This record gives sequence, C-alpha cells and structure tokens, in this order.
Amino acid sequence: MTEVHSEIPVDADSGNIMDLFHRGRPVRARMLNVLSDFMRSAKARDSEFTTNKTDRPLIVQFAAKDAQTLAENVSVLNMGCGWAVSEGYGACLINKPELVKDMVGHVRNQIDNPNYAVSIKIRIHKDIRKTVDLCQKEEAAGVSWITVHGRTADERHQPVHYDAIKTIKDSLSIPAIANGDIKSMQDVEAICELTGVDGVMAARGLLTNPAMFAGYEETPLQCVWDWVDIAVEHGTPFTCSHHHLIYMLERISSQPERRVFNNLSSTSAVIDFLHSTYGST
Ligand SMILES: Cc1cc2nc3c(=O)[nH]c(=O)nc-3n(C[C@H](O)[C@H](O)[C@H](O)COP(=O)(O)O)c2cc1C
Repeated sequence: MTEVHSEIPVDADSGNIMDLFHRGRPVRARMLNVLSDFMRSAKARDSEFTTNKTDRPLIVQFAAKDAQTLAENVSVLNMGCGWAVSEGYGACLINKPELVKDMVGHVRNQIDNPNYAVSIKIRIHKDIRKTVDLCQKEEAAGVSWITVHGRTADERHQPVHYDAIKTIKDSLSIPAIANGDIKSMQDVEAICELTGVDGVMAARGLLTNPAMFAGYEETPLQCVWDWVDIAVEHGTPFTCSHHHLIYMLERISSQPERRVFNNLSSTSAVIDFLHSTYGST
C-alpha cells in the first residue's frame, strides 16, 4: 500500500519552504487525515486542525487518492504513512507512480506561482529500483522535494534503510529529506552525513522532545511549561494537550510519576502535578 498526502505551506511570510530546509530551520508539519472529509465537514476541520499566527513556518499535510480532489483544494503532496492503506490512501500509492504523477501534475497545473512547493512523502519498496523510478517520475512531474521514510509499507520497528535513502538522494536533482528514527541532533548529523540528504523530518523524536532541534538532549522543563501556557492560551482540548505532555514526560519522569500523570483528567490537576513534582522551571 502507499499513501498520498498534501502539504500546504500555510504562510508565505517565512519565504520559500525549501530555503528553510537549506538554512536548517525547523518547519512544523501538521499531519491531517483525509482531504475529502476535511473539505466536507466543519467538525472535521475544527477537530483536526487549529493554528494561530505564531505557528509559523507551517506545512499542512492532507491525504488524497485522486488528482481532482487534490488539485481543487490543495497545493503540495505527500505519500508516506501506513494508516490509510486499506482506503487506498498513503503507502499503497507507492505502487501507483502514474497516479501520483497525475496528482502532482494536476496540482502543478492548478497553481500559477512556480515558487509554490509541491512535495511527496513516501515509504520505500523492497526493490529500491522501483522507488528510484517513482521518485524520478515525480521529479519530472514537478515535485519540489521528496521526503523518504526509509521503511517498506510492511515494516514497523525494523531498522531504517538509510542506504536506500542515500540511493534515492543520489538519483535526484531536487532535495531529498530523510525520515525515520531520528531522535537527537547526533542522529541528524549522522544521517545527513550518511545519506547526503538536504534535511530531515522527525515525528516521535519531536513528540518526546520538542526542543530536540534546539539542541536539547532531553525535554527541558521550560518546554513543558511553555506547552502548558500555549495550550491554556489557545484553548487546546485537554485530551490533546495532555497527550503531548505524556510524550514529553516519557523520558524525564519515573514510572510511578507517569502512572499518576497519565491518569489525570483536567488542566488544573496537570498544573498541580507539574508544580509539586518538578517545580515551576
Ligand atoms: C502520532 C503520529 C502520527 C503520524 N501521522 C502521520 C501522518 O498523518 N502522515 C504521515 O505521512 N506520517 C505520519 N506519521 C509517520 C511519521 O511522519 C513518520 O514517517 C514515522 O513516524 C517515522 O518517523 P519517526 O521515526 O521520526 O517517528 C505519524 C507518526 C506518529 C508518531
């Protein structure tokens, strides 16, 4: 299975998104679900996406499985997740290079601005030649950069195939971004060195330690309190803000602390717990 998603740079004030990769600045990517649901339902939009003016630079990612829906609504493409395979989204699309090319082409034709980025995020095939072929087709169709999660669609916790990412990078003229098991700045440096990629994307590493790209090895307490302040200020739903805090405390709290913290059910209980366990900053 393969996925196709779209990523929309929401705000141009940060300049070209590729410049940000090249300048080594972090770019926030919001993963969203199915584009058609998102367009149809205000409830889906409200529950799956909120942002504010300080949440920049920002890319928004959608999943789509046909060119028309994608081209009519968005501007940048991604295909790399495993969750939506049975619906024909996501990782199943790596086996449909012509469809992906069609989707990229439709989106490209829809947008006059040549600086507008269109990207895809993929997993790899067992036969790396197929992935290289896919990537070269999508480059020819006009994608701006390609993010590669270096696992096949079937792989979950197996080691990431950085050698495959290097092969893909070497076969392209456009920038390539490496993804998979990047948990520290040492990982960032090692993987850039190993693969020659132009940037990295991290998911779980940043959930656990949102300050990773700022050079912190563990989540600083300041980061935890900053997130509490942001969540309160912007009215983030408790389940969402709590979930992020559970990730953030994963490596810096003891098991008994996590047992209590993970069962808290209100913002005030969270704040009391953080004060009594860790102090203010
Ligand atoms: C909570 C969570 C949600 C994710 N949602 C998406 C998604 O919507 N689209 C996508 O392409 N990948 C998604 N992924 C996969 C990540 O982008 C990434 O490819 C994968 O987790 C491997 O990278 P990592 O080792 O840095 O986590 C998600 C991962 C996590 C942990």
